[in-house]
Amino acid sequence: MDSIIVRGNGPLSGEIPIAGAKNAALTLMPATLLTDEPLTLTNVPRLSDIKTTNELLSSLGTEVAVLQGGQIIVLDTHKITNHTAHYDIVRKMRASILVLGPMLARDGEAVVSLPGGCAIGARPVDLHLKGLEALGAEIELKEGYVHAKAPTGLKGAVIELEFASVGATENLLMAATLAKGTTVIKNAAREPEIVDLADCLRKMGAQISGDGSTDITIEGVEKLHGATHPVVTDRIELGTYMLAPVIAGGEVELLGGRINLLAAFCEKLDACGISVTETKRGLKVASRNGRIKGVDVVTEPFPGFPTDLQAQMMAMLCTADGTSVLEETIFENRFMHAPELIRMGASIEVSGGTATVTGVEKLKGAPVMATDLRASVSLILAGLAAEGETIVSRVYHLDRGYERLEDKLSACGANIERVSE
Ligand code: EPZ
Repeated sequence: MDSIIVRGNGPLSGEIPIAGAKNAALTLMPATLLTDEPLTLTNVPRLSDIKTTNELLSSLGTEVAVLQGGQIIVLDTHKITNHTAHYDIVRKMRASILVLGPMLARDGEAVVSLPGGCAIGARPVDLHLKGLEALGAEIELKEGYVHAKAPTGLKGAVIELEFASVGATENLLMAATLAKGTTVIKNAAREPEIVDLADCLRKMGAQISGDGSTDITIEGVEKLHGATHPVVTDRIELGTYMLAPVIAGGEVELLGGRINLLAAFCEKLDACGISVTETKRGLKVASRNGRIKGVDVVTEPFPGFPTDLQAQMMAMLCTADGTSVLEETIFENRFMHAPELIRMGASIEVSGGTATVTGVEKLKGAPVMATDLRASVSLILAGLAAEGETIVSRVYHLDRGYERLEDKLSACGANIERVSE
């Protein structure tokens, strides 16, 4: 297993290219199952989760062509030759559940392993299943697998989500494109990745309106055709790297970044006294003289503060001037970075879904352990300005969602290297 060593090395300067969004790619790729024509995705991030999805789709009969080092993927599912998504692949990546809706819509049958939980929570899929039943699917849970059937095809329905679940919205949106009649998904998730999926499905011939709002309307069509679609910019990678110059000092330009992808996050940075300016090529972020001010954060579904940036924000607030209260409302166990930051000298008190951070002058490098994707990158950020050396182990978590992280940061002057154990 690899580790990454970070040594505090003073202010950063330079530019960081932002890749295509992992969480958009992971829902765009299963859309290939909806058509017998090729779907070409460009601006695809080079991540282990993408490789896992390629493996999963190949096991279902998709021909996968990876071009330009992984930045372009051509997915051709002329026929689904196997309708079972096995546990050994699904357990590696929960987003595999997103093949359920498309397979059901295309062929009226799908068997998908329940994803199981992960470090940050139980991650149930009950909203996905209830929504598919509303579309007329017969769902049965047997030996850890979802057995779904729709022998006479799916039928449009009005579905009200109890929670604005991103994955449930994506599964149901894809399924509804081929259902007979009209579907309305109420209390739908509004994330930019949902809008990106709807854009791609429209290019494939789907009739969708209201994506990005709480109510999405889909008029089912007979068939979808192939398309070419660029994956939207990764707002979570963007937000993560925006914090690097704030923590380490200096100024960095994030190529491809746009404020509209992260309005709530940028408002919080503004409240801390950090200036973010849009440039022709992206966003420029500069640290301010002296310590930033502490600020309170509550994670919410989009357009609120993203839960996927909570750990990174906490790393920054560890050395802020004052106290910050972070409330995690989306996942039940998403503070595992806190004990690791405490090993680096941070002062954090966790009680249920709330973490209270009292800023300290400086963190001290220490050996720490990554527990999940966003927690691991928060430890790297903390290490950028800590005194001494921080060794982050189990960085396979990191490789799921950040391509070439050490290259991107060292190009801006960070002292960071990957070691294989
Ligand atoms: C997506 O996960 C993202 N993953 C997550 O990013 C992100 O944190 C999350 O949305 C919230 O924005 C991908 O897009 C691949 P949810 P998802 O369904 O779809 C509960 C990262 O770091 N829930 O909106 O699983 C669930 O338990 C990852 O990139 C149910 O109760 O998120 C959770 O508490 C982490 N029943 C909450 O809703 C369901 O059927 C949010 O889940 C579905 C969800």
